[in-house]
Amino acid sequence: MAGIVIIGAQWGDEGKGKITDLLAENVDLVIRFQGGNNAGHTIVREGTTWKFHLIPSGILYPGKRCAIGNGVVIDPKVLTDEIDDLRAKGVDLSGLRISANAHLIMPYHMLLDHAGETKLGKLQIGTTRRGIGPAYADKAARLGIRVQDLIDEKILKQKIMAAMEPKRLALRPYAKSPELDLQSMTEDYLTYGHRIEQHIADTTRITWKTLDEGGDVLFEGAQGTLLDIDHGTYPFVTSSNPVAASAATGTGAGPRDIDEIWGVAKAYATRVGAGPFPTELDDELGATMREAGGEYGTTTGRARRVGWQDLVALRYAARLNTLTHLAITKLDVLSGLGPLRVCTRYHTPNEASFDEFPYHQTVLHHAGGVYEELPGWDDDITECRTMDELPQAARDYLAYIEERVGVPIALVSVGPGRDQVIWTEAGKATAPALRAALA
Ligand code: IMP
Repeated sequence: MAGIVIIGAQWGDEGKGKITDLLAENVDLVIRFQGGNNAGHTIVREGTTWKFHLIPSGILYPGKRCAIGNGVVIDPKVLTDEIDDLRAKGVDLSGLRISANAHLIMPYHMLLDHAGETKLGKLQIGTTRRGIGPAYADKAARLGIRVQDLIDEKILKQKIMAAMEPKRLALRPYAKSPELDLQSMTEDYLTYGHRIEQHIADTTRITWKTLDEGGDVLFEGAQGTLLDIDHGTYPFVTSSNPVAASAATGTGAGPRDIDEIWGVAKAYATRVGAGPFPTELDDELGATMREAGGEYGTTTGRARRVGWQDLVALRYAARLNTLTHLAITKLDVLSGLGPLRVCTRYHTPNEASFDEFPYHQTVLHHAGGVYEELPGWDDDITECRTMDELPQAARDYLAYIEERVGVPIALVSVGPGRDQVIWTEAGKATAPALRAALA
């Protein structure tokens, strides 16, 4: 048996969806452990593009057990729309399980997210406005509504009333909004409950049983390490823990159930929303990279900020997550960009230098990168399937990252297609690769 965690090693949008999709084929259960529909995965399969926000993309393998763990916050409208869409496309959803303990995003959470951002004005976080922060806040305040509450009208109504009461003042501008009508909200959520009832389960037990019977479990993270509420660039973070440790709390697995931890990182860096980004390229080269990489959000369509690879941040992610493997995505985007820069240290205007990710937010806000320049390459690498087929400069670029981060690269993605990957020797020795070979 093996527990394999996939997390984002940067600011999210690293291409975790594709890596999860590749590894999911040969595991017995895929379970998401945090975040909500602030996340978005795009999967390209045989020319068809699939977009996922909540359901693990592993569902595309017929009958595959795919679960939404207790650590996820669920907008039931988004979930039921996703279910309808997949069903309409003929996808078998019999393997879908939803944790009875997962918390729900309510209409007032979205309104509060919106209002909170508007109030912050220039200081806003740039949230996805999907109600994520307010839903996790209610969870911590013990005012959350959980999936299991959806099947009991009396309890549901009582809990909604109790949750809305302390928000009365903040919600006053929306007092007349039909979305906040207690009766219709209760009815809508009961309907969602009926629609997903067949999928509601104790996912902690399913996870335990799968591992106990010798199966493999893939723990799927959302967002990225630098958006972690404890370890990221607070307050410019999401409201959950995207780090690997959260795979345990977000699913009910124990830390000893985890055998491999894969960190996914782009060959360069991107960030959506506000907050420090020391290697940001706010120039023409940045714009070229954005277009070449199609760096626009799956969830909000926002243009992503782009920058050079940041090894200070990546080493920090390797440490926080105890990464066993790295998956590098979008290497093809760097083709033809000329010499490539890699940030090895930060410096600040007062001449301070940082090899390690600085804990102080003010330092980070003023930090810029100190770079090593590496040769680029012009060749189209999208057809390469082995390391040997890559131009020497691309191999050197990867070797540089691997050495400086100190974590072996297991695979490299050279295009959006499922087949556009290179498995390295280290990758071929991982649990999913070995299982695939046996399959
Ligand atoms: P929230 O998660 O919607 O509260 O947004 C908080 C911060 O996390 C904002 O900067 C968002 O842009 C960022 N964020 C949330 N989800 C994602 C994601 O899936 N990819 C990248 N950034 C994200």
